[in-house]
Amino acid sequence: MTRLGGSEVGSTASANQQLYRLARTLIPGGTQLLSKRPEMFAPEQWPAYFREAHGCEVVDLDGRRYIDMAIMGVSACLLGYNDPDVTEAVVRRVKSGSMCTLNSPEEVELAQLLLELHPWAGNVRYARTGGESMTVAVRVARAATGRDRIAFCGYHGWHDWYLAANRLPDGERDPLKGHLLPGLAPNGVPSQLAGTAIPFAYNDLEQLRAIFERRPGEIAAVVMEPTRAVEPKPGFLEGVRELCDRTGAALVFDEITVGWRLALGGAHLRYGVEPDIAVFAKAMGNGHPMAAIIGRAAVMQAAQESFISSTYWTEGVGPTAALATIRKMQRIDVRSHVARIGTQWRETMRPLADKHGIPLTFSGFPAITSIGFDHPESLALQTLFTVRMLDHGILAGGQFSVSLAHTPEHVERYCSAADQIFPELAAAIRDGDIAARIGGPVRHSGFARLA
Ligand SMILES: Cc1ncc(COP(=O)(O)O)c(C=O)c1O
Repeated sequence: MTRLGGSEVGSTASANQQLYRLARTLIPGGTQLLSKRPEMFAPEQWPAYFREAHGCEVVDLDGRRYIDMAIMGVSACLLGYNDPDVTEAVVRRVKSGSMCTLNSPEEVELAQLLLELHPWAGNVRYARTGGESMTVAVRVARAATGRDRIAFCGYHGWHDWYLAANRLPDGERDPLKGHLLPGLAPNGVPSQLAGTAIPFAYNDLEQLRAIFERRPGEIAAVVMEPTRAVEPKPGFLEGVRELCDRTGAALVFDEITVGWRLALGGAHLRYGVEPDIAVFAKAMGNGHPMAAIIGRAAVMQAAQESFISSTYWTEGVGPTAALATIRKMQRIDVRSHVARIGTQWRETMRPLADKHGIPLTFSGFPAITSIGFDHPESLALQTLFTVRMLDHGILAGGQFSVSLAHTPEHVERYCSAADQIFPELAAAIRDGDIAARIGGPVRHSGFARLA
């Protein structure tokens, strides 16, 4: 087996590409997360591995430095990589031992802090990842209501309860197409779960009402993000709340990606609609695994009537990191910063794209923007853009997830690089040779993430 150590870093072939080729022979899919596969950016050219990450600067295995203007640790690092305050707290906890027969006191302190920020909630449970914490929320909602079916909108993880949406009789196909990705096979998900996860479109209250009418008394929960890429229509979230109240279903808000970014706490605080359960992960630990399921005591107590329990949900680093992260977000107005930087970036890029005749599109909030090209070969254009941005020392992809570490200077650097690259993109569009210029394969398509 080829082993890559420090001595090989910087050798003629890229250490990143060599290691990723090896990884693909050992790890099905090459990595543990679809969004981190190099194929999602620029196959055979994206620097797959990092040696160091600080702020929004990344050093790859070849020793090359980049500024990360892409997904920023899949939106897990809202304060930036290796934030000094979070790292200091975590190192202190690690040095005094982070796992033991006894429990970590930080989890009680964190529960108090989360409940202070969310006065509507009365109880807290913890997990470490987004998908598993959503699975906890769904289990609690089912236990609390004694019902099985879930009406949902958007993406909520890889678990059986969710992928069951694609378990359908032949002929009916692909409901997750509009929520996650087209063509996801639910292989391994029991066929008995067919019909237990029923999708509806964001902002379509009538579609949700129709699900309740078809299944009276059977819906345990409505599971959704309070917002993803667009604002809720007036009355939509209130209508969902009223429907849940009237039918006895639990309302579960998934704040895993949007939470903390649009409001201190959940984005639902910005809209003034209270769920029965809210779920946080990703940014709450700023790069350290941590997730919280908070909810009204009456609903959360159902967790006691089920078996929900896991060893590493008790270690001390996660809650320590979350306390340091949230306290920093209480001291510094992170959400205004990321909105400002995202807006500056969009407002600089738009006229640049227009000047060069590039059909650039933005969607989502300035704090987390999806980038595309309104062109039949949009993926090829995106790949070419990504590859050329790498030459300028910038990680750029289909999304810009802004962090506290991004400054106006980073935005200027990105936009100046784009200004130099756009003429080639315009020529490629004109000459019809986009893919031929990439120097490798075209990137794969990613999450649909509609609204
Ligand atoms: C809204 C939402 N829910 C759930 C998840 C799954 O979280 P994790 O990848 O930590 O399992 C994600 C991840 O992107 C997400 O954006």
